[in-house]
Amino acid sequence: MKRVIAIDGPSGAGKSTIARLLSERMGFYYLDTGCLYRAIGVYLNEKDVKDTDDDDRIIVTLKSAEIVYDGSSVFINGFNYTDLIRTPLAGHLASVFSARGVIRSFLLEYQRQFGRQYDTVAEGRDMTTVVFPDAWKKFYVDASQEVRANRRFKQMLEMGKPITYDEAFKDVKLRDERDMNRKIAPLKIADDATYIDTTHLTIYEVIDRLISLCKQ
Ligand code: DC
Repeated sequence: MKRVIAIDGPSGAGKSTIARLLSERMGFYYLDTGCLYRAIGVYLNEKDVKDTDDDDRIIVTLKSAEIVYDGSSVFINGFNYTDLIRTPLAGHLASVFSARGVIRSFLLEYQRQFGRQYDTVAEGRDMTTVVFPDAWKKFYVDASQEVRANRRFKQMLEMGKPITYDEAFKDVKLRDERDMNRKIAPLKIADDATYIDTTHLTIYEVIDRLISLCKQ
């Protein structure tokens, strides 16, 4: 039986960095599920599918999409999407398409299969609640909206993508509203997850805390 460390939390809480570093320290694979949703969003957009299209249109397009994630890169039908998914547009597409049940069902089994194959640190919005309800360890990583907006603002500038702090704040707020209020698999704190507020912690303090909780 493989061990899964499931981590959920809102956009910009530092989940990706935390999950990647934790996976390295634990010797586990890293499953970035946002990356799967981003790649599918970009793929559907390329095929002119809209998030408002009916289920049949989306299902037909997904039927011809073979997704593969290798622990760091994501491919659809052999094409590497990894460099295309870190844009505000890809984040938006992931956020709107991920509210659709057909897309969540399409990715559900792939994520579970990954967790059955490898010791995994899985990070996303519904890891602890839907995808891996029986995970070995469950964490909810959070930070204030202001801190998350500031992190996003700096990250975008570092990536050479001009954005104002106000735009970053609006984006974080909108994403929270969408991720937490959608009908299917909304972001919420699982009853049995350990809540970690990273607002006043460095990444390394968070990792040390998680590792000590994993050892308990
Ligand atoms: O973690 P991220 O910013 O890469 O995620 C992009 C979007 O994908 C996010 O707005 C919500 C969605 N998502 C989801 O609904 N479920 C997941 N397990 C992971 C991401």
